[in-house]
Amino acid sequence: MANSKPYVILSAAMSMDGKIATRKGESKFSSSKDLARVHRLRGSVDAILVGRNTVSVDNPSLTVRHAKGRNPLRIILDPKATISPSSKIVKTSKKIHTMAIVSETAPSRRVSILAKKGLEVIKCGKIRIDLKKLLSILAKRGIRKILVEGGGTTNWYFLKEKLVDEIIVTITPYVVGGKESVSLVEGHGFDKISYPLKLKQVKRMGSEIILHYTI
Ligand SMILES: NC(=O)c1ccc[n+]([C@@H]2O[C@H](COP(=O)([O-])OP(=O)(O)OC[C@H]3O[C@@H](n4cnc5c(N)ncnc54)[C@H](OP(=O)(O)O)[C@@H]3O)[C@@H](O)[C@H]2O)c1
Repeated sequence: MANSKPYVILSAAMSMDGKIATRKGESKFSSSKDLARVHRLRGSVDAILVGRNTVSVDNPSLTVRHAKGRNPLRIILDPKATISPSSKIVKTSKKIHTMAIVSETAPSRRVSILAKKGLEVIKCGKIRIDLKKLLSILAKRGIRKILVEGGGTTNWYFLKEKLVDEIIVTITPYVVGGKESVSLVEGHGFDKISYPLKLKQVKRMGSEIILHYTI
């Protein structure tokens, strides 16, 4: 499969109990130092990818601001083309190359709204997004490294399909709890303990711990 898919890094900051957002959608767990590290990482990849809930809940810019570096391509998994035209990402998509990945059944009216706003819309998959196909399209476009920045559902799809090469997670000194708060990995979950990771590096930064795993 050499060069048929970009190298995929899954990155997140989570509470000590594995949550990436509170039940009300708060998700800014990282310290300013960790934020700078994440932004350096963003500056070193070709693309950042998130699911559409992250866009609607966090309204992120997905740019490099807390470190030096160029802004990578931004990719949103949005099967039904529902992201808001007033979101920061959509509003800046004429300046920063941004792709909306939609399904073949996405309403054409919504697709054309996003296209008019400046997003490159790519149809990939009948109802769900076909991630393997997407990664192969991106590889053909010269995208070699992607940072998957969540949320939990998107993380699940990537892990389930065994498309992740590396995981970098910051454990932050907070406890969140709650069945309704989003975990690092959502979705159906694996039936068995069958997904062994290799621990490559552990770094302590104040009260935070940064864990690097490879698959
Ligand atoms: N702490 C952190 O590091 C961090 C980072 C990012 C996000 N977050 C938090 O995570 C939360 C959002 O997570 P989430 O799990 O609710 O949502 P999410 O992963 O952001 O988005 C999920 C949605 O994206 C679409 N999607 C993702 N993968 C897909 C696939 N393979 N095929 C088709 N569609 C796909 C689906 O849209 P449809 O529903 O339209 O089918 C799915 O429901 C927010 O609260 C955010 O603050 C935290």
